[in-house]
Amino acid sequence: MENHIHPTVFKISGQQRKERLKQKPKLIWFTGLSGSGKSTLANAVEAQLFEDGYMTYLLDGDNIRTGLNKDLGFSDSDRIENIRRIAEVAKLMMDAGLLVVSAFISPFREEREMIANLVGEDNFLEIFVDCPIEVCEQRDVKGLYAKARKGIIKNFTGIDSPYEKPLDPAVHVHSDQEELRDSVQKIIKTISANICH
Ligand code: PPS
Repeated sequence: MENHIHPTVFKISGQQRKERLKQKPKLIWFTGLSGSGKSTLANAVEAQLFEDGYMTYLLDGDNIRTGLNKDLGFSDSDRIENIRRIAEVAKLMMDAGLLVVSAFISPFREEREMIANLVGEDNFLEIFVDCPIEVCEQRDVKGLYAKARKGIIKNFTGIDSPYEKPLDPAVHVHSDQEELRDSVQKIIKTISANICH
């Protein structure tokens, strides 16, 4: 269907913004179960990049879900829409020249592939925060696993909603076995190989 929308061509291009900031925009996408340590790692990685002089922005599950995506729940279709909107926001931020770090469960492989296609495969770094569900459940920082087991929360990832592991992530972190600073270093090393300042 024709929608009669005609996007404006901006005077300042993404390329010009990129050159001004002297960095290659990237999307550093953390994925993993609830309680796997995505937010902790993403925060630490963003802080390190910022300290190193890069212009960054962090997008995080609970924050986005209390604002932009507060109308969405956790059905498969809502999760897909959640990720679609976040990917579009990340794309805008990258056009502004930023290094975008994100932490979302993003349980479906197809949606993560959609993000890579949207922002360009070369600009997308998938970080798999791998942690056995038993460990996540034992940690249960927010008390959500206990509620999911009692049926108080429905469609909980890993319990009655699926999580599809990445097949070929840029970095694979085992958060139950590695020290935080070692994982951060490993991730920063991969990012550094992909950006120039
Ligand atoms: S998703 O799957 O990517 O759309 O999820 P995301 O936007 O990352 O939101 C995950 C956080 O929402 C809380 N929460 C739930 N997670 C999973 N399943 C269900 N049903 C659910 N209900 C609420 C939870 O705090 C998640 O945060 P993290 O940081 O992952 O623990």
